[in-house]
Amino acid sequence: MICDNIGVNALDHLTFAGQDTVMLAAQYGTPLYLMDEQRIRQNFRTYREALSAAFGERAAVLYAGKACAFTELYRIAASENAGIDVVSRGELYSAMKAQYPLENACFHGNNKTDEDLFYAVRSGIGLICVDNEEELFALDRIAGELNVIQKILIRVTPGIDPHTYDAVSTGKVDSKFGNAVATGQAEMILREAFRLPHVNVCGVHCHVGSQVFAEDVFERAAEVMLRFMAMIREKCSVTLEMLDLGGGYGVRYVEDDPELRIPEKIAGVAEQIRKICRELDYPVPFIMMEPGRSIVADAGMTLYTVGSVKRIPGYKSYVSVDGGMSDNPRYALYRSRYTVKNASHAEDPDTENFSVVGRLCESGDILQENVSLPSATARGDILAVCTTGAYNYAMSSQYNRLPKPPVVMLNEGSARIVVRRETLEDVTALDV
Ligand SMILES: Cc1ncc(COP(=O)(O)O)c(C=O)c1O
Repeated sequence: MICDNIGVNALDHLTFAGQDTVMLAAQYGTPLYLMDEQRIRQNFRTYREALSAAFGERAAVLYAGKACAFTELYRIAASENAGIDVVSRGELYSAMKAQYPLENACFHGNNKTDEDLFYAVRSGIGLICVDNEEELFALDRIAGELNVIQKILIRVTPGIDPHTYDAVSTGKVDSKFGNAVATGQAEMILREAFRLPHVNVCGVHCHVGSQVFAEDVFERAAEVMLRFMAMIREKCSVTLEMLDLGGGYGVRYVEDDPELRIPEKIAGVAEQIRKICRELDYPVPFIMMEPGRSIVADAGMTLYTVGSVKRIPGYKSYVSVDGGMSDNPRYALYRSRYTVKNASHAEDPDTENFSVVGRLCESGDILQENVSLPSATARGDILAVCTTGAYNYAMSSQYNRLPKPPVVMLNEGSARIVVRRETLEDVTALDV
């Protein structure tokens, strides 16, 4: 199986986190998001242990809630002593509802409104990662009004192409995010920030992209950032203390995706950081990483019920399910690949090629093409799309006024609803 929390039981049903997915579908209905709590915790620990092996106390993992955010997930992050990265008042509010300690949170985003900044500063957030000059001046004014000296990072674009999809690549010079080293804009915004009375510049941040597998992307980013920090020390006599390397490690969605060993990757990045710091005679900064996808992706699975199997002779065959791009828009957006299984007949040989499509009124409503499934796949079967913990629930919509599916958290044999299914009343709740 694509991940070791997926198996098959004696009933020939697919299991997830040790539980029968067909029974879970019967109990909670479909479409249904499942999450494996132990896997989330294990993923947090992998990062934490690797970072502390490399940097001791001088490192932190911040969970990027954009990958998947709901109150219970912030409770889990808090109980794993993880920091969080939020990008909206909605994420911040969800964390507050979880009584998450906001001094461990960092607010990101390339266009924070005055309301966002006011809300974040007033909440006592630990860090705000400033994207641009307008935001910097607005934040200084708002922090002044609130009588706070706000700790900040400045977002820098190191000019690294991570060879991932364009839509999720963020570290190139022409990115909409941050301030490029190459154009001198990163230096300029730092100089401005040092002058302002209500912000305290703690360090710099970069994020090169998402679903990154390329060998040395983080090493290269760290080198550019450290050389930039050393240049700032030389020109401005300020030694920046923090370096946030963002998120982005890739996860395995299909068999031919590589398997990343995160502890080894982090050890390699740490080695590079120490080497460059020695060369520059720069103190090793406090290191932060902001994984989202690699914390939750393989802790997720989505279940659907098959409605029809349509074979168009000489053309193609479709399996239609009761969800679609409203609960997982990633194939429609980026042609993202997923492993799809017939959960009701998990051991049957996958002999026929299908496009797995949703129920929304769009030809582009495709969950996955070229999927091999048993020929006997039929109405009523449960289909599982694996590795959907990241950027699925988080990107879901009510397109076609479909109520959003619930999220059920599985933990050591038990199951609990952590986000309930939307009702038709929810769908019309805001209509006046
Ligand atoms: C600033 C920042 N940090 C962290 C992340 C998380 O990336 P990933 O989910 O690939 O780990 C993102 C994702 O785009 C991001 O923009």
